[in-house]
Amino acid sequence: MLFQIKSYLKFLWYSKNEHAVHSPFVFNLITKCFYDKKSKPEYAILQQYRNTLLENKNSIEVTDFGAGSKVFKSNKREIAQIAKTAGISAKRARLLFRILNYFQPENILELGTSLGLATSAMALGNKNAQIITLEGCPNTANQCQLQLQKFNINNVACVITEFSEYLKTHPDSYRDSQPTTHDLIYFDGNHSKQATLDYFELLLPTITNDSVWIFDDIHWSAEMEEAWEAIKKRPKVSVTIDTFQWGLVFFRREQPKEHFVIRV
Ligand SMILES: C[S@@+](CC[C@H](N)C(=O)[O-])C[C@H]1O[C@@H](n2cnc3c(N)ncnc32)[C@H](O)[C@@H]1O
Repeated sequence: MLFQIKSYLKFLWYSKNEHAVHSPFVFNLITKCFYDKKSKPEYAILQQYRNTLLENKNSIEVTDFGAGSKVFKSNKREIAQIAKTAGISAKRARLLFRILNYFQPENILELGTSLGLATSAMALGNKNAQIITLEGCPNTANQCQLQLQKFNINNVACVITEFSEYLKTHPDSYRDSQPTTHDLIYFDGNHSKQATLDYFELLLPTITNDSVWIFDDIHWSAEMEEAWEAIKKRPKVSVTIDTFQWGLVFFRREQPKEHFVIRV
């Protein structure tokens, strides 16, 4: 916690708004998407999706993955508690919705579904998108599937799998000479340095010039900050944007390498 406070103070010190940005690509993203304050009809659906989870007092047996939960001890957890602690915040879900709406990515991958709070934001952000979302805990994934059905969200395929298992053995293997491409990837599970860097390398063959990658919790721990610094240095990465909670990564070849720290 102390680490995160220190890290946040540093972020506040270095962060800027659109006035300090000279790149038209980043300026437009900030002004037309990040800072778009207009209400959208889909925000009400996202809120309902969240509310029904927060009202759900049923418990499920959860399988723990990744860097582990900093909150729970037992493996039996209430749906409402999972939604409150593991899911994306309402403000971030609206931002994710806008990012999807702005870039209109069609082929999306999410690492870490949980109850689908972020998945639903992406699915509504671009209704033409096809989303593959990976979750290692079968009971959590089942709850998510039920919730997506309840809200008629049909452009999502939930895959129950350990992440690296999927990335290494998927039929359209990411190591093939003509791998699947992803227009957007949301990394939100297993917040450890090594795993984050491994997923980065495994998924690198799937980029296009316009791919957008979003890493959650880049300041969660010293390790995650190290992972973020290593990602920024990767040769194929051109622009990065640190919004404290998220690190956005772009691979646009026409763009000089530049790292932005932006308040959202
Ligand atoms: C932070 S939650 C995802 C939250 C979700 N994206 C949202 O905003 O609602 C991370 C999820 O990833 C899953 N997870 C973590 N590491 C994993 C791994 N190595 N393989 C499969 N699933 C994993 C956990 O079970 C957990 O449900």
